Amino acid sequence: MTDTTQKIYLKDYTPPAFAVESIDLDIRLFDEYATVGAKLSVARQSAGELELFGRALSLLDVRVNGKALNADEYTLDDERLHLHDVPDVATIETLVRITPQTNTTLEGLYQAGTGDNAMFVTQCEPEGFRKITFFPDRPDVLCVYTTRVEADKKYPILLANGNLLEVGDAGDERHFAIWHDPTKKPSYLFACVIADLQVMSDHYTTIEGRDVLLEIYAAAQDIDKCHVAMQALKDAMRWDEENYGRAYDLDRYMIVATGQFNMGAMENKGLNIFNTSCTLSSPETTTDERSFFVKSVIAHEYFHNWTGNRITCRDWFQLCLKEGFTVFRDQSFSGDFCSKAVQRIEDVATLRAAQFPEDAGPLAHPVRPESFVEINNFYTMTVYEKGAEIVRMIANLLGKEKFRQGTDEYFRRYDGQAVTVEDFLSALSVADARVLDFLAWYRQPGTSLVSGDFVFDENSGVLTVNLAQKTRHVPNFAAPVALPIPVATAVFDSKTGKLLAEKMLLLTKAEDSFTFDDLPLDKGAAPLVSVLRDFSAPVNLDFAYSDEDLAKLAAFETQGFNRWQAVQTLVNRLLFGKSERVDLLIEALQVAVPKLLDSDAMLAARLFDLPSEKELAMGYETNYQPQAVKAARDALKAQVASALRDEIAAWYHALPAESYTDTPQARGRRLLKNVLLDLALSARIDAAADWAYERYENASCMSERLGALSAMVDFALPKAAQYLADFYERFADEELVIDLWFSVQAGAATSSVADIAALMARSDYDWQTPNRVRTTLGGLAAKPTMLWTQAGLDLYLSAVEKLDALNPVIAARLLSALARWYTLGAADKAMAQDKLTALQAKVSSKNVREYLDNLLDDSLLAKA
Ligand code: TRP
Ligand code: ZN
Repeated sequence: MTDTTQKIYLKDYTPPAFAVESIDLDIRLFDEYATVGAKLSVARQSAGELELFGRALSLLDVRVNGKALNADEYTLDDERLHLHDVPDVATIETLVRITPQTNTTLEGLYQAGTGDNAMFVTQCEPEGFRKITFFPDRPDVLCVYTTRVEADKKYPILLANGNLLEVGDAGDERHFAIWHDPTKKPSYLFACVIADLQVMSDHYTTIEGRDVLLEIYAAAQDIDKCHVAMQALKDAMRWDEENYGRAYDLDRYMIVATGQFNMGAMENKGLNIFNTSCTLSSPETTTDERSFFVKSVIAHEYFHNWTGNRITCRDWFQLCLKEGFTVFRDQSFSGDFCSKAVQRIEDVATLRAAQFPEDAGPLAHPVRPESFVEINNFYTMTVYEKGAEIVRMIANLLGKEKFRQGTDEYFRRYDGQAVTVEDFLSALSVADARVLDFLAWYRQPGTSLVSGDFVFDENSGVLTVNLAQKTRHVPNFAAPVALPIPVATAVFDSKTGKLLAEKMLLLTKAEDSFTFDDLPLDKGAAPLVSVLRDFSAPVNLDFAYSDEDLAKLAAFETQGFNRWQAVQTLVNRLLFGKSERVDLLIEALQVAVPKLLDSDAMLAARLFDLPSEKELAMGYETNYQPQAVKAARDALKAQVASALRDEIAAWYHALPAESYTDTPQARGRRLLKNVLLDLALSARIDAAADWAYERYENASCMSERLGALSAMVDFALPKAAQYLADFYERFADEELVIDLWFSVQAGAATSSVADIAALMARSDYDWQTPNRVRTTLGGLAAKPTMLWTQAGLDLYLSAVEKLDALNPVIAARLLSALARWYTLGAADKAMAQDKLTALQAKVSSKNVREYLDNLLDDSLLAKA
């Protein structure tokens, strides 16, 4: 047996011994299995054997230069095929048999859906191609693919990457299609689809004059829900031309939607495969939030065509090279299509709620990890979101023009290559040498704490801002070094609120001071400093603002994000007993909200944000008490709601019913009204129950209907059950809406572990569909008071155990919600440890084992 916990190290990287020039694939699907023929042209590059990876393949034939090999001319184990004496230039042919029909992992070629809905799709990133055929399945082996796909005619759609060369009959009610992808690509970008789907088509003419056929494939009943995705694709194509000078390079761009997919979507060259949850959108079935997310994901995958596909990763340690940059690009794109402030709020809230906890516990790793057991476990918030923050810091530091100069150089230098983070920084550094210093951000794990204060000398008129940085020493890594931390800073007149100065301070040492003089202050006035504006670096901040300062910044700040941030800081102080000034919070809302009702209702809605219970748990390194945290949070919410009782009712009614439009303004009003409905119920406004029923009955779209339904379920309103039943019946044929039905209940404050277990025991709960699995387990994970109980953990871990066998990628990801188990109070902590330890004995996938080993490794548990 192979050692399932063998670590792979970045420092051990060696280039492949053989290059592959081209591959001809011949994929034939039959009712119970498939055969895959592969013909590779290889050429030696350096000393060493030709190493072909393959997993769960039955090898039927292997030939070198046309000659079948004897058993002693190769070695084969569970993971690899080694050919001993391959000439320096050779043709390698293999034939294998696979069973996509029974592949539950959703990696490689697998069947999604059953019966009439059955379709066959691939997922190759990161190492799924080796489940299709023997190949040097590593991202630094790039070649040209020609793919022949053959199947029964009951699957009319046969797709693969690139351009369609030929279609024809294959006899016996079978047909084939041959595709050719002229761009060299790594194997993780291979895709093929065998299905019975409808297609929505459109065209786009690139800035270079290329006419591109755009196609989105979806089930017949969903095809009219692809308009948002199609528009998003065209917007993304234009945006990348305008902002990065990047045009699309093939004549065809295809997107295929499937209901069974491990992640959101996959950027396979010219043939993206998408989760239906990130493709389909219609006002009746999709919330505004989700619809906008569809747009972002479409853009994300499209942007990969340059950042990921044309320029790819040398090895999987460099994953952030494509993901961090591409997330930064999709965030910028999204900001251009809604309010920039709200997009930034959204991205920062996600980072704080999910990446900071990862970085603070036993799963902490650098944005570019240095070792792993299972690469699938490193598609993390740190790689994606913190990776995006690093690119954002560089972009902000350089400014628009220089950053563009740097990215132009990156695309010019490395097009067609598989490169590293160092290469990326080196290209960008042509615009500004300081870029090179950001390598430290890629190598050092842990979230830094920036602390500071400001001092004003009335006599000299000089304002001094003092800043310091500190990062915890993460076990197994070098002692932390000082990072270059851009701290965007503004100075306001503390009386009038006038903006006096703006500067980007770059903190490069453990401690530093920065001065502002010649401030145009009125006589006798004092300055008020605002730091880390727009969240200019992914750090924790402890700045010596008074509570009054925060209230002032909530009013003075010129950017919506910074106003939100000031309110959030105050909220955190209130929740952690570091301030008593609820009055300041209430007043800030009373002043801010009416002004925003017309101009930016979305921002108004976000000003009511309270950090999630999970995020608040971050405030404890030991003796975390979920009940106490929840109680404090609920109490603050109730207090604010009752203090603003009259205003809430007035604001709610100031947002009249309107017919559906898809504009940022209308989306903002719908969100704000949902937030106000929830607050009205918290404030125990008697009439609010009827507002909820009415909002449901008269809903113009899913955002309104779901907002009303969640409010009913969350507050256990008398008619909640009746409306839940109505909702199910109305949307019984819409899988994604039924997911919402599951989520609303699983996530509701009022539903118990037993209620969630009951949802999971239903016949329409499907373990083969990750979207469905996430509805209930995601709901449970979001409620620490239930998760960290005997019953909660038993339910959660039994799901992990079940998925360990079916779908290890998903099973392992579920464990990330448990990363900070060791911060619980003694009794809960012991219970969690027992249950996690018991699980260790029952699981076998490398994915889950690596996670559990790390979670339980005492030496990794973060010390404050
Ligand atoms: N590269 C995909 C993205 O755009 C991520 C992804 C999709 C993925 N499917 C996957 C990663 C399966 C691992 C396994 O972010
Ligand atoms: Zn991506």
